[in-house]
Amino acid sequence: MKKVTAILIGAGLRGARTYSAYGLEHPEELKIVAVAEPDPVRRENFAKAHGIPEELQFDSYEELLGKEKMADCALVCTQDTMHFAPAAMALEKGYHVLCEKPMATTAGEILEMGRLAEKYGRILSICHVLRYSPFFSKIKSLLEGGSIGRLISIAHIEQVGFWHNAHSFVRGNWRNAELSSPMILAKSCHDMDILLWLADSTCERVSSFGSRSFFRKENMPEGAPERCVEGCPHRDTCEFYAPRFYLEDPRGRDGFVYALTEDPSPASVMEALRTGPYGRCVFRCDNTVVDHQVVNLEFANQVTASFTMCAFTDVCAREIHLMGTQGEIRGDMEKGEIEVIHFLDGTRENITLPAPTSGHGGSDSRMMKDFVKLIAADGKITGKTLASVSMESHLMALAAEQSRVTGKTVEMKAFKEGIRA
Ligand SMILES: NC(=O)c1ccc[n+]([C@@H]2O[C@H](COP(=O)([O-])OP(=O)(O)OC[C@H]3O[C@@H](n4cnc5c(N)ncnc54)[C@H](O)[C@@H]3O)[C@@H](O)[C@H]2O)c1
Repeated sequence: MKKVTAILIGAGLRGARTYSAYGLEHPEELKIVAVAEPDPVRRENFAKAHGIPEELQFDSYEELLGKEKMADCALVCTQDTMHFAPAAMALEKGYHVLCEKPMATTAGEILEMGRLAEKYGRILSICHVLRYSPFFSKIKSLLEGGSIGRLISIAHIEQVGFWHNAHSFVRGNWRNAELSSPMILAKSCHDMDILLWLADSTCERVSSFGSRSFFRKENMPEGAPERCVEGCPHRDTCEFYAPRFYLEDPRGRDGFVYALTEDPSPASVMEALRTGPYGRCVFRCDNTVVDHQVVNLEFANQVTASFTMCAFTDVCAREIHLMGTQGEIRGDMEKGEIEVIHFLDGTRENITLPAPTSGHGGSDSRMMKDFVKLIAADGKITGKTLASVSMESHLMALAAEQSRVTGKTVEMKAFKEGIRA
């Protein structure tokens, strides 16, 4: 296979620690040749790890994409509202593009990005990593193999995890829909995409409810200061006391802490908690996104699906229940367990998947492998998460948000016609 070259736009958690790391693990497949990253520490660390010379290190994507095309593809790993501009520029420059989800935050930009990929004849792949997970891949193949007959209904739950929710959706980058995107797009476009894939049809109708019930000023315990480290009297009784999560909890200390600082030493973390967004009291932030939401979907083949997203869970996990005319499938992604029940003879099949070797249940590195293969084949094979498919699930998420806000069911046909008009 031809070795693929890439430029990285945004050397943050996803860009540097997930997708580009694939190049370090598989140097025969992928080489990152240039980076655009405004944070000097991130840029320097990244360039050192990937052996990128100084003249190919840039402060911003505008600068890097202003140069002649220098690689096969561009990895766009900036924040949600900064996907469209660099992806559009990269496509125009002739790069194939891997773009983080959500591909864009408005319906107009979503459609335009797809149009640009077609216009320039480039591969545009969206990081809907769950389609590559051993868990959902197995469920998809069970459905395709007719294991439970004709699929009739799906119940799917996304348990965000109270600590993950506080980090990302109360204090962090995705807390405010105006600054990033609504929760259903930022977090759950993955789930809309998986439901679309499993239902194997097009979505016709969407309704949704949900709100920000808990993370509001009126729920603040008495006397809580602006920041946890300012002597909060509730430090031992508050589930969201930041120093406990980032200094003691392995989930915070080993991963999420890198959103605060590149240097995870206690002194550096404490400084970030004293001055940065992650030290704020969860009841005193500028968060607007919901902490729970439900969505109902009806597909053209009459399959119905219900989706629940909730912040108030211990684990960060996904569970699914698929009901067919001849049986049921129940699965727990984090445990890697799938149970298939056959109505005819009452038999139960228990499938246990091997422990994941990378993030999102093993999906991240499988997606990169597939993307690199796709680029090496110059589009002569097809991918699972091309923009043409992802646009559909992104629009489902935006329709769900419209329904939640207006209290009305959204007909997808009219919704799409409205956007195009
Ligand atoms: N596919 C998934 O499952 C998944 C999971 C988590 C996050 N994400 C998405 O990945 C994206 C990145 O998330 P993250 O946690 O890595 O964020 P991050 O903030 O750690 O990384 C973004 C980086 O972009 C850099 N940047 C800002 N302006 C830039 C510019 N002009 N040019 C180049 N770089 C610039 C920032 O300095 C930062 O280092 C988000 O859109 C997020 O929603 C996807």
